[in-house]
Amino acid sequence: ANIHGITTDCMTLTRFVLDEQRKYPSATGDLTQLLNAIIVAVKTISSSVRKAGIAQLYGLAGDVNVQGEEVKKLDDISNELMINMLESSYTTCLLVSEEDEKAIEIKSERSGKYIVCFDPLDGSSNIDCCVSIGTIFSIYRKDTTGKVSETDALQPGRQIVAAGYAVYGSATMLVLSLGSGTHGFTLDPAVGEFILSHPTMRVKERGNIYSINEGYTALWDPAVTQYVHEKKYPQKGKAYGARYVGSMVADVHRTLCYGGIFMYPATKDSPKGKLRLLYECNPIAYLLENAGGLATTGHMPVLDVQPTSIHERTPFFVGSRADVEELIEAYKRLA
Ligand code: AHM
Ligand code: MG
Repeated sequence: ANIHGITTDCMTLTRFVLDEQRKYPSATGDLTQLLNAIIVAVKTISSSVRKAGIAQLYGLAGDVNVQGEEVKKLDDISNELMINMLESSYTTCLLVSEEDEKAIEIKSERSGKYIVCFDPLDGSSNIDCCVSIGTIFSIYRKDTTGKVSETDALQPGRQIVAAGYAVYGSATMLVLSLGSGTHGFTLDPAVGEFILSHPTMRVKERGNIYSINEGYTALWDPAVTQYVHEKKYPQKGKAYGARYVGSMVADVHRTLCYGGIFMYPATKDSPKGKLRLLYECNPIAYLLENAGGLATTGHMPVLDVQPTSIHERTPFFVGSRADVEELIEAYKRLA
C-alpha cells in the first residue's frame, strides 16, 4: 500500500526476521532477539561513521575531547557496541571479535545458546578517507554440552545459522542470510529502519570484473598469476575490468551486485593470505553461496575448512560461479 508516497506496509528487517522465525514452530525467538541486537549496533555504527568527519571538524577526535574524556577510535566504538548489544541480548554464550585476542565468554546469567563471530569495522585503512567500510558477522549454535570455551567457536562455516554484513557506503545496507536466500536491506535514515530493497539476491553466473591487490603480483601463486593474466589478455572476448576498494565488504558487495571475482590469495610473505576465516571469509562465503556464487581457498570450499584457532587466516576467492570455477581449474592445473 502506498498513500501519498508513503509505504504503509513495508518489509523492515525486523519484520523479515520475525516472519522467517515464525516458519519454525519450535523457534524460541532468540535468533530474532539476537539479530535485533546486531541491527541496533549496526545502525549506531552507521551513525558514528557518518559523523566521524564532523567530530574531526570540531576537534573532537583528538586524544581527549572537550569534556576531558578520551575519544575512542571508530573501530573501538564499533567493537564495544557489538559486544554490549550482544551481551545484553541474553542470547549468546561466546563472542569472537577481530579486535579481541581471546574469545569473550558471556557470564551465565546473561548467557544464551548462540556464538557470534564478527569484525566490527572492516576496512580500517579506509576509515580516514571517507571510503566504504563495513561490519561482518556470523552466528553459530553452541554444539556441545557443558561450559562454553573458545573451542566452541571452531566450527566449519557449513554450520552457520545466519550471517550478514553491513556496508557503510553511499547508502548503508545490510545483507543477510538465514540459509534460504541472501537478502539486502537499505537503511532509510528518515525512519531509522532497514527496508527490504533487494529480496533474494543472485550473483551473476559470470561477471566481467576481477578484484585483487595487484601490488603483490610478484608474491602470488602461479595459479593466480596465470588466472589474472588470462583476464587481461583473453584468448577471445573482452578483457575484464579491474576494481579494488581495499575494504572487503565493499569489494564483495560490488561482486554480489555486478558479478565477477574477489581474491585475497596467499602471498610469499603470508602463506595463508590476510583475511580471517571465522569472521571475514566464512560469513561472506555463506552469503555468496546462498546467492548462487562460490567461495574457495583455491583447493577446497571455504565453508568446509575445519578451523583450528579463532584468528586463523585463509586464502580467499569468492564471486560468480563460472569465474571462481575457472580459478579452481587454474589451481588444479598448476598444483
Ligand atoms: P582490516 O581488518 O585490518 O581492515 O583488514 C582487512 C581488509 C579487507 O577489508 C581488505 O580486503 C583487505 O584488508 C585489504 O588488504 P590489502 O591492503 O593488503 O589489499
Ligand atoms: Mg577486518
